[in-house]
Amino acid sequence: MSGTSSAHPRVAVTRTGLPGDGVGRLATRFDVTAWPGTAPPTPAELAGLAQGCEGLLVLGADRVDAALLDAAGPGLRVVALASMGYDSVDVAAAVQRGVVVTHTPDVLADTTADVAMALILIARRRLPAGVDAMRRGAWGAFRMDAFLGLDVHGATLGLIGYGRIARAVARRAAGFGMRVQHHHPRRKEDDRLSRWAPFDELLRTSDVLSVHTPLTEETKGMIGAAELALMKPTATLVNTGRGGVVDEDALLVALRRGELHSAGLDVMTDEPRTDPSDPLFHEPHLVVLPHVGSATEATRAAMVDLAARNVAAVLDGRPAPTPIPGTPGLPGRRRVADRTV
Ligand code: DGY
Repeated sequence: MSGTSSAHPRVAVTRTGLPGDGVGRLATRFDVTAWPGTAPPTPAELAGLAQGCEGLLVLGADRVDAALLDAAGPGLRVVALASMGYDSVDVAAAVQRGVVVTHTPDVLADTTADVAMALILIARRRLPAGVDAMRRGAWGAFRMDAFLGLDVHGATLGLIGYGRIARAVARRAAGFGMRVQHHHPRRKEDDRLSRWAPFDELLRTSDVLSVHTPLTEETKGMIGAAELALMKPTATLVNTGRGGVVDEDALLVALRRGELHSAGLDVMTDEPRTDPSDPLFHEPHLVVLPHVGSATEATRAAMVDLAARNVAAVLDGRPAPTPIPGTPGLPGRRRVADRTV
């Protein structure tokens, strides 16, 4: 895996030591250069790494914008994300340049749904208060009124979005005796797991609200002060989708005023958040995790493997297995100014 010149198409990978053998398999057929640093590459370093490559394998934390696509050069054919979310990529700019963009749906749905379910249980039952008390030696005598949370069984779960991860959460919720409803702007039908509900109704009637929508211009700030005000004061909000969909300042206000029972966030705006005094880390009824929805060895390896298969397919002239929905799986012809060349 080096950057030495070779007859094989050049593939740049933005981390060293990615799990699984996907990158290793790419290296048997392509000239693979992996970013050697232990810290993620800066935008300038990313541009240098991508220069002259035909395939680029990136993580969701790497920003792929028009400047990076141009830095890679006209030979770039595929940007493969080892991530399901693709808000980090300027997909329109890539498509305009004839570059295929792919992501990794399916392979992480169950693993991420497990974390959504865990956050529902942990936040609603206020389990961190118990963990904290144990660590401080403050268990004390048994009291009927200590460490009380709210029941998960019998509660109504509202899913915002109804894609693969949301449906995997619905399956788990059924096992926990929850009633399930969902809102999706286009998929308005009920199914055996869940009933469709209008957005406002979902907010008003759910005991637990779980966010599973991608971050787009339409969904940014979708759960803000007005939406939180519609929710029950006994409700729990969980976000394993994308930071930015929930307005975290408004969430803190609602929790502090007792207008919301509890919340769990696996994703936040401006990740990573490393300030130990960050108010999100210290709100008693809020549980936060460092974006670990897909973090199991098997799933992370499967994500890299699928990203690598997408790279190989496009560089071999075959359609990518999992292009971004609504975009081509094969490289297009490039448009330069108003001419197609
Ligand atoms: C995803 O796949 O979108 C996860 O959030 C990890 O980036």
